[in-house]
Amino acid sequence: MKSMWPDPLAERLARSGVVAVVTVENPEDAAPIARALLAVGVGAIELTFRTARAAEAIRRIRAEVPEMLVGAGTLLNRAHVETAIEAGAGFGVAPGCNPATIAAARECGLPFAPGVMTPTDMEIALEHGCRVLKYFPASNLAGPSALETMAAPFAHLGARFIPLGGINLASLPQWLASPSVLCVGGSWLAPREAIQRQDWAGLQRNAQQAAEVVRARK
Ligand code: 3PG
Repeated sequence: MKSMWPDPLAERLARSGVVAVVTVENPEDAAPIARALLAVGVGAIELTFRTARAAEAIRRIRAEVPEMLVGAGTLLNRAHVETAIEAGAGFGVAPGCNPATIAAARECGLPFAPGVMTPTDMEIALEHGCRVLKYFPASNLAGPSALETMAAPFAHLGARFIPLGGINLASLPQWLASPSVLCVGGSWLAPREAIQRQDWAGLQRNAQQAAEVVRARK
């Protein structure tokens, strides 16, 4: 089955090295957050569909910060996928591996990374044409060595992973060093408290530290 992820898109994620997971209550915050991240080299952002405003936030980033690669997270069903596509999301992510949601993403043409935490999840996701997978919840699963052991039987199929869940600046280097990791994600890059205070400079300093770790890896 043809991969849902075009190579240039996967390469953009790899170049950024990190993807900031952001939950916004106020869509007006979306573009300033994206600008602050992009200015220090964080080129990918995932807006979670945990608030009703996520689609509007995606629309604003597409319109106001078009250089930012923007995706939609926490896509739990077909309606979420359709809303994400309409808003202009460039990719979708989910916490779990739901074949119905994967099928919806495929039909809508949305590159989609379902959440996996076991070899069985990985088989299901790969069988449904996914090649980029969210390894979740990463920090509760014994770390990168567990991922590499599980990923080994699927490496020849081109499986690449975005570890997410509980990752921070301290654990970023070991995840980035893991060969099957495409890029590393997390909300620590754009913390909710900074967003609530509209502290874009603080948010940027935070993201800058992660971007420096990404650059040091190259
Ligand atoms: C999520 O879906 O919330 C992401 O996996 C981010 O997890 P984090 O908040 O632990 O970084």
